Amino acid sequence: MKFDEVLHWLRETQPAALARLWQHADAVRRRCVGNDVHLRGLVEISNRCARQCTYCGLRAGNEALPRYSMTDDEILQCAHRAVELGYGTLVLQSGEDAGMDPQWLADVIRRIRAATPLAVALSMGEWPPDVLALWREAGADRYLLRFETADQELFLQVHPPRAGQELKRLELLRALRDLDYEVGSGVLIGLPGQTYAELALSIKLMAELELDMVGCGPYIAHPATPLGREPAGAGPEQVPATALMTCKVLALARLACPHTNIPATTALATIDGETGYEAGLRCGANVIMPNLTPWQYRRLYEVYPGKVGVMDEADRHLEIRRRIEAVGRKVGSGAGDSPRRTIARMSRTACAGGGV
Ligand code: 5AD
Repeated sequence: MKFDEVLHWLRETQPAALARLWQHADAVRRRCVGNDVHLRGLVEISNRCARQCTYCGLRAGNEALPRYSMTDDEILQCAHRAVELGYGTLVLQSGEDAGMDPQWLADVIRRIRAATPLAVALSMGEWPPDVLALWREAGADRYLLRFETADQELFLQVHPPRAGQELKRLELLRALRDLDYEVGSGVLIGLPGQTYAELALSIKLMAELELDMVGCGPYIAHPATPLGREPAGAGPEQVPATALMTCKVLALARLACPHTNIPATTALATIDGETGYEAGLRCGANVIMPNLTPWQYRRLYEVYPGKVGVMDEADRHLEIRRRIEAVGRKVGSGAGDSPRRTIARMSRTACAGGGV
């Protein structure tokens, strides 16, 4: 799809036209990644963060937030719980915890891989390539690092670099690919200052990066952050942080990256609690990431306020299964690896075979 067409869809408001977009994205989803919805157990292992991102409740400047780091045994217990619940993947997520020893996490990854059949995905923020390599060698399969916005000026504004750290996010995404990780990235939708043209460029960037996973959610203002204290973004070019806009981005991401795994995100479910997962699944998504973080920590991982996931985790698990089946889909088994990578590998083999 051309840039102008993406831009047109982002501005579209007519329900009948939008219904066509959802149907098209849903058909591409069915054809390219099938009817399975993969569940990934999310464990938020630490809310310590050295960064000062102006939108995120975990920012170092939020001194009111009590901080925690899970122990290796606690993380292992979550891994066993994920297996019991039938999940194929464990996602370890954290703020950029400067006090964390990368070797410690490598050992945790090794223990999870030795004790369970789970695939391990990491969402730990920006770390130097040698650390990313250490975790890959320890058995991590996937890495999630959103580029948040394709507009580098806006990115630097909302995401000031850590003193003395020169890591560039797009270069890190390439380094992750070179390390043979499955790579996930994506954007925040409706960040104050984000324009329609920027969002269209972000969708183009998703395709250029050949992502294995695309995670996109609406921006939700957090009162303990500089952006959350400002008035909401305004003006005709400001992208609204709505469920409808999130669905448009999911659908366009599905069309731009047909074989990619795309979650119906917790942020979407948070702003549209009744039907957020269903809406996401109907317009291109094929993944849900239920929260497995222990109760004593869960409320402290407050990236934004009001996050869903307050019921008992077993109930939520049953509820999510029921909701997946109610929209005519089926819970996937196994790790739900990247279909994009499988196809890329097969076509390489076919090309190599072609010369014989
Ligand atoms: N609203 C919505 N999503 C947020 N994230 C961080 N802060 C917020 C917020 N206020 C998202 C970022 C990050 C992911 C882990 O959480 O996009 O990549």
